[in-house]
Amino acid sequence: MKESLILAIETSCDETAVAVIKNETEVLSNVLYSQIKEHQEFGGVLPEVASRIHVEKITYILKQALKEANVEPHDLTAIGVTYGPGLIGSLHVGLQAAKTLAWLYNKPLIGVHHIMGHIYANRLVEEIQYPALALVVSGGHSELVWMEKEHQFEVIAQTADDAVGEAYDKVARVLGIGYPGGPIIDKLAKQGKAHYQLSKIKPANDDEFSFSGIKSSIIQLVEREQKAGREIIVEDIAVAFQERALEQLLDKTKEVIQDKNPKHVLLAGGVAANSRLRELITSLVQEFDSIKLTIPPLWCCTDNAAMIGVAAAMNYRYGRFSSLELGASSTSELM
Ligand code: KG4
Ligand code: ZN
Repeated sequence: MKESLILAIETSCDETAVAVIKNETEVLSNVLYSQIKEHQEFGGVLPEVASRIHVEKITYILKQALKEANVEPHDLTAIGVTYGPGLIGSLHVGLQAAKTLAWLYNKPLIGVHHIMGHIYANRLVEEIQYPALALVVSGGHSELVWMEKEHQFEVIAQTADDAVGEAYDKVARVLGIGYPGGPIIDKLAKQGKAHYQLSKIKPANDDEFSFSGIKSSIIQLVEREQKAGREIIVEDIAVAFQERALEQLLDKTKEVIQDKNPKHVLLAGGVAANSRLRELITSLVQEFDSIKLTIPPLWCCTDNAAMIGVAAAMNYRYGRFSSLELGASSTSELM
């Protein structure tokens, strides 16, 4: 471990977040403004609105994070910031704030890949054993990431279409049950029954997930039931969607575990907050002797800056700095 005191900024989507992280995993502060309320009436994140709110909030959140950590900017070792992937306008706000601080206080700038942050949220719980396999499930990503060694990332499966969190959000919109859909469907499914049958969808290729077909089957099911004049039982629809979506994640994760034999399985991203997924992945990993499983606590599953701070500290350990030319990227590859 290399001693460090890092200020980290995350503005890739609809959370304005700043954290101060000491020595890689000690969270001195983790301040977040969630824009959920502002986007709820539109049933999804409106990019222009998100950027405007980041601009309004960032200075206050920054000051608050420094104050709670009891840290002055000149005490910092480096400034970490998410550069992508995410919404370009939103990313720019965090990047401008980070670059301004780095320039003003003469501190190194460390760009962080958002998914690396989600994976390293697990280090807030415990050390990672290698080789490790991370199942990354969020609003923008559904990926299996192989880490042969520390700080080495290889994407071995990814979605061919929608991300799983995106599918949760779209199904919730079709059902008119609110935004974001993930936590709502999670809750409804607990009261639902396995009443509607959806056929299993198999992605076209071995290294792919596919969730848009499951989403379309739900849309067709709702239309069919409405045409037939039958009442739609949203709790049961939640079960039908969730079981098929999670089954696909679990099936592929099992195949990769059998094939590559990791020492540690990590769950990461906003959908990692899902109670059914947490249950299912726990049973799956229990089938294998001597594989460790880490599931981040709920507070660091969805977007936050603490995880970006941990990832920035790892980049710092490996000497991966960025120049003040660092730009926002909506689609950057995890490396
Ligand atoms: O990681 P995150 O905060 O943002 C992205 O990087 O995309 O993930 C947000 C996603 C949303 O799609 C939201 O619906 C989903 O995570 N989510 C959940 C749950 N909580 C959040 N999905 C399923 N069950 C949950 N409990
Ligand atoms: Zn995220």
